[in-house]
Amino acid sequence: MSGKLVIGNWKMHGSLASNRNLVRGMLEDWWINRKGVALASPHIYLLQLADLLEYSPVALAAQDVSSFGADGAYTGEVSAPMLADMGCRYALLGHSERRNYFKEDNRVLGVKLRNTLATAVTPVLCVGETLQERESGCHLQVIEQQLEIAAGLEAGRVMIAYEPVWAIGTGKVATLAQIREMHDSIKAWCLQNQKGSAKIHVLYGGSVKADNAEAILSIDSVDGALVGGASLDVGSFAMICQAADKLV
Ligand code: 13P
Repeated sequence: MSGKLVIGNWKMHGSLASNRNLVRGMLEDWWINRKGVALASPHIYLLQLADLLEYSPVALAAQDVSSFGADGAYTGEVSAPMLADMGCRYALLGHSERRNYFKEDNRVLGVKLRNTLATAVTPVLCVGETLQERESGCHLQVIEQQLEIAAGLEAGRVMIAYEPVWAIGTGKVATLAQIREMHDSIKAWCLQNQKGSAKIHVLYGGSVKADNAEAILSIDSVDGALVGGASLDVGSFAMICQAADKLV
């Protein structure tokens, strides 16, 4: 992979028409239309994106995975094998919005993680502390608890995305020192609690924008970015992808 990975998380945004415009604009951009970039659309639009991205190296990603692993009577659910069938290379798991609004905890996320690992889809486990947890000084322990479900796995099998809850959609970015401390701590935890010595990929997310991407992505232990709002704008996303491409 050249450069660092950038995943655009569209969250619950889009329509057939706006997705088509957005993706076509992205594919015309040199910095976006390359390996090392992925787009996570709502499930309903994955097929449309798979189609639009057919001849592009930009990868497809899902925003969530069902806790049910195989076909069955689970109305409304989309399983990991279905996401693999759709061509998803990555699936986000445990995004803070899912932990918050859908009360996803380690029990259900552990099942989702195992279901995803049983397919060719790479899970991207999102972790992050609230402002209160950070201010009370227990942020490192909170993240270790969230990582617990990835203990014992082969190193590198699960990608981690560190997204401080207080930095998501707020315009408040963690300082470079805070990001470095947490990424180092996550990597040290993986080394201690996982098997083998394959490279561990840790992405940063939380108000990554065109004007701060380069500084954040320059940190050695930051292996890429998980981008929300700025991934809905071709110009901003292109600048983030450009910053990532320059930094290996
Ligand atoms: P923003 O980039 O909008 O802060 O969102 C970050 C995020 O939650 C990506 O998953």
